[in-house]
Amino acid sequence: MTASPPSLKIRLKVNGDSYESEIDPRMNLADYLREELALTATHVGCEHGVCGICNVLVDGRTVRSCLMLAAQADGREIRTVEGLAEGGKLHPIQEAFIEEHGLQCGFCTGGFMMAICEMLERNPSPSEEEIKDVVGGQICRCTGYNSILRAVNSAVSKMSASRP
Ligand code: FES
Ligand code: FES
Repeated sequence: MTASPPSLKIRLKVNGDSYESEIDPRMNLADYLREELALTATHVGCEHGVCGICNVLVDGRTVRSCLMLAAQADGREIRTVEGLAEGGKLHPIQEAFIEEHGLQCGFCTGGFMMAICEMLERNPSPSEEEIKDVVGGQICRCTGYNSILRAVNSAVSKMSASRP
């Protein structure tokens, strides 16, 4: 007779929606989002915390979702790149990435956007150094980063113009 695999119940919010799931306690948050909730825009690259491609926001802070257990997300609010657009309108960060060609293959893009989103929510007027610090914390193999830096500066302008 084989023992049934252990399971754990978690409740959390993702992009404003509430979920309750029975999970394998060893499942990481990236796999939970992709496999249990079908939120596949959170990509997985290195799977050991280096590339930032799997970034999501947990209670407003950028987290490498490959390094966090889904169990640790119990009771927390998660935001993924699927939650950036609202009411059918792209987020200014998304518009800026399109306009400034901040992506090529797009595999890394969601991770960049979530880290940039956290930065701009904390500080709507970041210095060039702060922007480079956040952008430099993620890995993109396509763009050479200049177009991403232009996209961040454009997003800063767009968000500041939209504030009352
Ligand atoms: S896949 Fe998570 S940091 Fe690279
Ligand atoms: S756009 Fe291809 S890895 Fe960044």
